[in-house]
Amino acid sequence: MNKFFSLSLILFILTITINCTAQQKQIMSKDTKKTIEEKVDSLLNIMTLEEKIGQMNQYNGFWDVTGPSPKSGNEAKKYEDIKKGLVGSMLTVRGVDQVRSVQKIAVEDTRLGIPLIIGFDVIHGYKTLSPIPLAEAASWDLEAIEKSASVAASEAAASGINWTFGPNVDVSRDPRWGRVMEGAGEDPFLGSKITTARVKGFQGDDLSQVNTIAACAKHFAGYGFSEAGKEYNTVSIDRSTLYNVVLPPFKAAVDADVKTLMNSFNELDGIPATGNKFLQRDILKDKWGFNGFVISDWASIKEMISWGHAKDLNQAAELAVEAGCDMDMESYAYVDELAKLVKKGKVDEKLIDDAARRILTVKYELGLFDDPYKYCNEALEKAVIGSDENRAAVLDMAKKSIVLLKNENQLLPLPKEGKKITVIGGLANDDNSILGSWRIASDDHSGVSILEGLQKYTGNQLTFKKGADVTVGKTAFTEELTINTTDTSEIKDAVLAAKDADIVVMVLGEHGFQTGEARSRTELDLPGVQQELLEAVYEVNKNIVLVLTNGRPLTINWASENIPAIVEAWQLGTETGNAVAQVLYGDYNPSGKLPMTFPRNIGQIPIYYNHKQTGRPVNADNNVFWSHYSDVASTPLYPFGYGLSYTTFEYSNLNVSKTNFNVEDTIEVTFNLKNTGNYAGKEVAQLYIRDLFASVTRPVKELKGFELVSLNAGETKKITLKLTKEELGFYDNNGDFVIEPGDFKLFVGGSSETSLETEITLN
Ligand code: NOJ
Repeated sequence: MNKFFSLSLILFILTITINCTAQQKQIMSKDTKKTIEEKVDSLLNIMTLEEKIGQMNQYNGFWDVTGPSPKSGNEAKKYEDIKKGLVGSMLTVRGVDQVRSVQKIAVEDTRLGIPLIIGFDVIHGYKTLSPIPLAEAASWDLEAIEKSASVAASEAAASGINWTFGPNVDVSRDPRWGRVMEGAGEDPFLGSKITTARVKGFQGDDLSQVNTIAACAKHFAGYGFSEAGKEYNTVSIDRSTLYNVVLPPFKAAVDADVKTLMNSFNELDGIPATGNKFLQRDILKDKWGFNGFVISDWASIKEMISWGHAKDLNQAAELAVEAGCDMDMESYAYVDELAKLVKKGKVDEKLIDDAARRILTVKYELGLFDDPYKYCNEALEKAVIGSDENRAAVLDMAKKSIVLLKNENQLLPLPKEGKKITVIGGLANDDNSILGSWRIASDDHSGVSILEGLQKYTGNQLTFKKGADVTVGKTAFTEELTINTTDTSEIKDAVLAAKDADIVVMVLGEHGFQTGEARSRTELDLPGVQQELLEAVYEVNKNIVLVLTNGRPLTINWASENIPAIVEAWQLGTETGNAVAQVLYGDYNPSGKLPMTFPRNIGQIPIYYNHKQTGRPVNADNNVFWSHYSDVASTPLYPFGYGLSYTTFEYSNLNVSKTNFNVEDTIEVTFNLKNTGNYAGKEVAQLYIRDLFASVTRPVKELKGFELVSLNAGETKKITLKLTKEELGFYDNNGDFVIEPGDFKLFVGGSSETSLETEITLN
């Protein structure tokens, strides 16, 4: 090569690297003939190391904060870093104005003009709120759940957001942990189905559409098993539980083509999840072939120092990137430390290329390179957010999420006229708590309160008395809220009003901010003086309908024994009051089933239906040496899968297509389901299995199929549910899926306490 030629080549490369023109930016984005892979490769070729690392850096916006502020007063640096191309993403920036203002800097003021990906916690709706995710899970209605996620996506997208930090797919068996409200409950099978529905709902069929956003399955992995339900705590789980209970919903997300995963605050086997190579590289990226990207949780890279795993930020960055964490949320670890690590030869630049490639690919898939402002359209923002259609969808979801726990003497549905009804409870006329936790973009007090919903039915004489509040605080991020009220001064007045009522509707439970992140509790009874209020009212009037509004299973033994009708209404979002009223008045027949076991007391926790048999499951010879408590029954107050209807259902004629099967066969399980009551209704028919003997012990029951069946009064339907090797196998302790021949029990019924059973043999 002559001197002139090599000099020109160097100059040419320099021009591309240092001075990318607007025209070149155009070529990068608009060249439609190239595949996304080719476009990402071309782009990576002209990026400096710092720019590639910039893609791996996410900053919080300037407006809302969802974690401890790492460097306050840092706004100027953030702006500067965006300008230098050192920021690939921002979170908690919302609204077309805010998004446009940061996107403009990234696109117009940086050398390469690479658009930001804007992330946000769209957990159960954006502005128009669906029920909290745990409540939605109680619907077992996958179509409705998918629809709910798509409504959330459409509103978030119309507000400039391209990526949600959801779904939360953490299986949890501990209601003390405040974040159970964000997940789908305790079961990996139901959780996996719901994960698939939510990923589909957020991402749709085509991510480049204007109403779809990238999803993020979180928190990878094990966070739901925080020891003693205490937030941000350590986790200790065995491999069998990891593979069979914790990981399946994440696998379902990957199979549904989820674009991103978030790692978690906890450690696993003594290694923080953020720096855990076994989880992120070995399982997720290698074994499962995940080709999206992994984001850290808020400052979780930096927190590896507090865990005692990394000695400083530099080592934390090294450990995280080596382990497969592609993007740093608010640790300032990658942006400050990664280039140094690469230059010193401590981190291979290939890891940076791989992470940047993953992130850029998602940006291309979202269509952000074609039009970085594609999500910034004020007209759409106005039209979509809070539309009638969205409100109708969340109302539908809310009704489907309600679980009828008890209905003695058919106290429900309420008569529509001629009665004196007293409504009691501070939560009854609360239009804020019922929105639930995790609803940063919604307006405070924008929910329909339960009282307001009931007032729409005008045939009865309705009186309201507060009786008691729940807490004394009001805002989302203060500890104040954990202070339950001790004020009993209004109980007397409520009792007086209850005395001559025909029916008393008591709305009790938790404040919406008593669950969610950092809201662990050690008592799960009714907070404050609500139990006192309930018992005082009961003294004068036993015709009580108790409406619970809460974000986790509660211990409501006394109520369960004494109160004739109990409705689990969770926190149902914007349309809460309308949904509850329609259910109480019988315009909607409830069909929800609990996605999480309700314990009798705290001491039973963790309590879950798919527990192991143990070596001493029964009181065989009438002595004390068997697996039980001596002060409380081993059974739950309300089991997983439980929920009543205004009508009744009968299961009969359980049959299997044959009793001896080969591995490749599909087993057809059939049974009759009859509506034996007086109302049309829906029932979630459930199929469980038990693998009787296995190389790794199996749970006493595992949910493996369900169907939501609609039946008119008196109607019978023959239901067929299918089992294949997918459902009959399990993960061994190496994480390999195995199908072992042997005997299985099959159970069918309307809850995990099933009514019919049979046996099959797998050859
Ligand atoms: C911390 C939470 O654990 C995570 O779920 C959330 O997405 C981030 N904060 C961002 O708000």
